[in-house]
Amino acid sequence: MGEKPLIGSLDGKITKCPPFWFMRQAGRYLPEYRELRSKTGGFIDLCLNRAASTEVTLQPIRRFDPDAAILFSDILIVPYGLGMNVRFEEGRGPLLDAVYDAKGLDKLSIDRNWSRIESTYETVESVKSQLDADKTLIGFGGSPWTVATYMVEGKSSKDYAAVKGWAYRETEGFERLINLLVEATIKHLSLQIDAGADVIKIFDTWAGVLSPEEYQKWVIKPSSKICSELKRRYPNVKIIGFPKGVGIGYLDFASKVGVDGLAIDTSVPPEWAAEFLQNQVTVQGNLDPIALIEGGERMIDQARNIRESLQNGPFVFNLGHGVLPSTPVENLITLAEFLRTPLQ
Ligand code: CP3
Repeated sequence: MGEKPLIGSLDGKITKCPPFWFMRQAGRYLPEYRELRSKTGGFIDLCLNRAASTEVTLQPIRRFDPDAAILFSDILIVPYGLGMNVRFEEGRGPLLDAVYDAKGLDKLSIDRNWSRIESTYETVESVKSQLDADKTLIGFGGSPWTVATYMVEGKSSKDYAAVKGWAYRETEGFERLINLLVEATIKHLSLQIDAGADVIKIFDTWAGVLSPEEYQKWVIKPSSKICSELKRRYPNVKIIGFPKGVGIGYLDFASKVGVDGLAIDTSVPPEWAAEFLQNQVTVQGNLDPIALIEGGERMIDQARNIRESLQNGPFVFNLGHGVLPSTPVENLITLAEFLRTPLQ
């Protein structure tokens, strides 16, 4: 132990050069991804093809040598494992047959169709066997709330009226969906840990659209349940939370949920995170993905400011959201070099 820098940081260690990786470090900005993607059928097929998803997971490691590999998969693999139809259409994003009532809920099962996604755990094993000992393997899932937004809206939403409306109107029915997702997520993450994932990240991309009361009910409470059950089963596993866009809601997340690391989005001032979050958790963040597209001095200045603000506490460098498809690969290479150089 102690040989993986990213796990060291999640354990509270402070370093001169922060361990780093980038959200969505595998994906369309890489020509080798686009080539493999064009040969592998649909996006779900790619996620569930062990050889192809292993290769895609490792592509960014070869390009810029980050401290972690993140399993190549998607948060919508869980609804697929629950028996839903999930498709990705070019230019439209994910499409699902929406669930919005008890009848829809009755069709979902945590056991019946899970074999559809079991190759995911084989990918974890296969990546793990090919990673150097100093690299961390990150497994992940979506939070119950964020996954529910896609299950209930049936697609990416603008206003979340269907899912928020159901939660207000028929709280008990909606709670059944959230509870099912808590259970399914614990199962999915446990199987990834069994297969070799060192760290788990829970993506809560749409946590920021909830009112304060609903945030407690649908984000803080279910995320706490997942963390405490995972920690009970696997006391050594590290967990990173990412409740995107919650502003001062980060304070409650840090003090209540039980994560080791907290990923902050682009809008969070790093000096604020250093003062109010870093005494409780390791902070991960938060370069603007658009600064990464633009590159040059502005990118490095912003990255330097983040490092200066957060380097006196436990810290993992990352972006405030995922790498976008139009990002030049050279900019990630330049940024990685900057992160490996101690600040003057
Ligand atoms: O490299 C990595 O970070 C690992 C892979 C990963 C993907 N999705 C691959 C992907 C991870 C961790 C995710 C998480 C995910 N998926 C989130 C949470 C993080 C975030 O970005 O906010 C969400 C909300 C999803 C759902 C999802 N998947 C959407 C809305 C879309 C369509 C939008 C888009 O970017 O095209 C996807 C597709 C998706 N997931 C792609 C990739 C590489 C693009 C698919 C393609 O190749 O066509």
